[in-house]
Amino acid sequence: MKKIYVFDTTLRDGEQVPGAKLNLIEKVQIAKQLEKLNVDFMEVGFPSSSQGDFEAVKTIAKEVKNVAITGLGRAVKEDIDIIYDSLKDAENPLIHIVLGSSNIHMSKKFKKSPEQILQMGVDAVKYAKKYMPQVQYSLEDASRSDFEYIWQTIEGVVNAGATIVNVPDTVGFALPETFGEVIYKINDRLMNLNPEVLLSVHCHNDTGLGTANTLAAVRNGANKVECTINGIGERAGNTSLEEVVMGIQLHPDYYNGYTDINTKQIYETSRMVSGIMGLDVQVNKAITGENAFAHSSGIHQDGLLKSKDVYEIFEPETIGAPPMEIILTARSGKHAFEYVSKALGYKIPEEQLMPLHKKFLAMADEKKEIYYNDIINLLDKENVTKEKNIELWELLEFQMSINSNLPSATVKLKKGEEVVITSESGTGAVDALYSAIIKGVNLPIQLNDYRINSLSRGKESLGKATVEIRYNHKTYNGKAIEKDVMKASALALVNGINKMLLSN
Ligand code: KIV
Ligand code: ZN
Repeated sequence: MKKIYVFDTTLRDGEQVPGAKLNLIEKVQIAKQLEKLNVDFMEVGFPSSSQGDFEAVKTIAKEVKNVAITGLGRAVKEDIDIIYDSLKDAENPLIHIVLGSSNIHMSKKFKKSPEQILQMGVDAVKYAKKYMPQVQYSLEDASRSDFEYIWQTIEGVVNAGATIVNVPDTVGFALPETFGEVIYKINDRLMNLNPEVLLSVHCHNDTGLGTANTLAAVRNGANKVECTINGIGERAGNTSLEEVVMGIQLHPDYYNGYTDINTKQIYETSRMVSGIMGLDVQVNKAITGENAFAHSSGIHQDGLLKSKDVYEIFEPETIGAPPMEIILTARSGKHAFEYVSKALGYKIPEEQLMPLHKKFLAMADEKKEIYYNDIINLLDKENVTKEKNIELWELLEFQMSINSNLPSATVKLKKGEEVVITSESGTGAVDALYSAIIKGVNLPIQLNDYRINSLSRGKESLGKATVEIRYNHKTYNGKAIEKDVMKASALALVNGINKMLLSN
């Protein structure tokens, strides 16, 4: 089995998303998380483009020691000098040079002949080699380039000392089958030329094929993949790291390979990048979306309760995500209803299951979201016996005083017989509300993420609040849908806390 090297470019290509520019502290925070994820390379900026990028590369090169660090530049001496300066303190530095190889780029962007461009590339690699042993050469727009010209360029730059050649699908134009064939032919020739050189690919997602093209390349001989967390990047983005890594992990024999990624850090990295960059992860995003492990259809819930592998190809814990969720909806069958009731401590006698399930369905038809407390209230009203005394928090009331200087909140919460009333102020309304709830439940809960989305248009629209909390090194999600966004926010947090209590 061969090792597939993972090159993360979240902090360079990913950061090219409009509006996602990061400051130095944020870049360092993400770089340290990428180190925990155990990527092999991280590209953290384009040092000649701005003083900010230069500082970011320089600081990360100093602070992150277990990953090869690189900065990108054009095939010109000035850029290479600046990359070298920015990487001086790196333990394992790599100079990354990019130059177009397609006729479109050569004639329209550079207004130079293919021979001139080839010479520029070779000269740039030779120049970079004087500074550092590790040099990567990227043939920009390779997927729209003439194959023999690509090969001549690779031959030239490898003979000049390039240690990695990168074949990008810069505009997301490639198809898995044809891109795979190109990589196969390059690999075949590269093996004869210099088998030590890494063959890398870098795909964009303009037609949604970034992951498919990258995996096709791996299958055909590529041993290095360039990706970003959550697939962020220019236009429709780059190849998503988590999708490629899990693709290889789920099919090691097919790809004859493995990566060294610490998959348990995937979820945390995804949420950190999303939170810091302000770019939401689409709810149905493969691997890391909020719904990636949520099951709501009755047939699926029933199958899962019989055996998880019926509908789950890997456990959410593999990527450090919160455990699989059975979401009770009007489509949930009696087994799912019974399962959640049992988790809440109730034992439903066999003869009561059907009528109770009917009542549950009537309630679910009316409500957009079913909370644990709704099930508890239903079961208590019907005098179902409790075999375990599991007590969850219920939000009885809350009151907000919103003024621009010091918003404050008072909440009334109940757990079993215990009723608490707490007040807090905060920097904003949600901060005050959450501080009051956390004070009320009196647990060292850390709030990782909070989001509010509108589910429809207009001022009457429903607000969906989503929170992510951390307690005792584990992550839990809570969610609530209400017309009043503050109520949705409060219930989402209480819901997350209850999930945490239930799983503990
Ligand atoms: O998309 C691209 O071609 C790039 C190169 C710098 C690898 O980002
Ligand atoms: Zn790119």
